[in-house]
Amino acid sequence: MRIFRIAIAGFGGVGRATANLLLSRRGRYRQVYGADVRLVAVCGSRSGLADAGGLEADRLSALTTGLSGADFVEASGADILIEAGPSDFRTGGPGLAYIRSALSAGHDTIVISKGALVHSGKQLRELAQGSGAMLKLSGAAAAALPTIDLIEHSLKGCEVLEIEGILNATTNYLLDAMTTKGLGFDAALHEAQQGGFAEADPSNDTEGWDTASKLLIIANFGLGADLTMVDLSVEGIQSVTGERIRTWRAEGVVPKLVGSLARVEGTFRGGVGIRTYPLTDPFANVRGKNKAIRITTDVMGETLAIGSGAEPLATAAAALKDLEHILAARITAPIQISERSS
Ligand SMILES: NC(=O)c1ccc[n+]([C@@H]2O[C@H](COP(=O)([O-])OP(=O)(O)OC[C@H]3O[C@@H](n4cnc5c(N)ncnc54)[C@H](OP(=O)(O)O)[C@@H]3O)[C@@H](O)[C@H]2O)c1
Repeated sequence: MRIFRIAIAGFGGVGRATANLLLSRRGRYRQVYGADVRLVAVCGSRSGLADAGGLEADRLSALTTGLSGADFVEASGADILIEAGPSDFRTGGPGLAYIRSALSAGHDTIVISKGALVHSGKQLRELAQGSGAMLKLSGAAAAALPTIDLIEHSLKGCEVLEIEGILNATTNYLLDAMTTKGLGFDAALHEAQQGGFAEADPSNDTEGWDTASKLLIIANFGLGADLTMVDLSVEGIQSVTGERIRTWRAEGVVPKLVGSLARVEGTFRGGVGIRTYPLTDPFANVRGKNKAIRITTDVMGETLAIGSGAEPLATAAAALKDLEHILAARITAPIQISERSS
């Protein structure tokens, strides 16, 4: 049975959820892919743990100080990296060093944070192409909502003409609460923060940067575009007033913060801003923390997906979907479920 050694860099809510889900699915990996998947290293910013034989869940609460960094992960012997550190699109974030190191060494890499992909996406793609490593990023491209997978698998061969996405759960929750409960922006934000789904500093979400980051990742990694933040016009929801909400309600339309891309003369133009939808449009009914994407192609018309899922587990599951794509690709003849059960 082929052994796959996994390291997780970034061990907060998502990293830990990914570790636990991975360990709980080892039987599935053996059964479906004939793969012995071992978690050989985890680390946060200052501490970590490594064991070439494989870590078990009961050891993950006691990390050792000083075990961290790209060199630590490389020394662990891991052949697949899952990166789940903080996201910073202006600098690339701490994940950039881990991802560069893994791709340069030819290790398949699953990225969950958005920063490095927005900041250095082209370089990372080239590194992966150069070394033959697979670079997967469902967790960074709206996670539980399928986006790039839809383009790469379900719509394969079609030309994507337009994409609209409600890509940020926090802003969708806030606009929904303002529209349906009549809350002001500050009250809706307070409610979201109390519920644990808006950050103490929510500006990355409310000013549209998180949506813009996901849009860029979808454009550059899903559609082969080469856009940067300066190519996008980015508007958030922070200055939406109660009066504006009441006007939209009176007009019978629902506001959403939307990232959009359109193919114009062979290239993509994009932006983030508020769009309003009549109640008959499925986007008007994407409620609470749900997300959605509508992809228009030349020959398959409109495809719409709406997704949600309890975090951080849903993001962990998106990253492990990527892992299964890697296992399937790296093992030439995976055991078929139908053969197993007969
Ligand atoms: N939470 C969600 O629902 C969700 C959904 C989709 C995507 N994401 C993305 O997933 C990523 C992780 O989110 P999270 O909620 O798990 O964040 P988090 O709880 O703040 O965890 C971040 C982790 O990264 C670690 N870290 C910081 N600098 C590091 C370094 N130099 N080397 C190694 N580790 C480092 C931190 O270590 P310390 O503990 O030592 O500080 C912490 O363990 C973020 O990029 C986020 O945007 C999150």
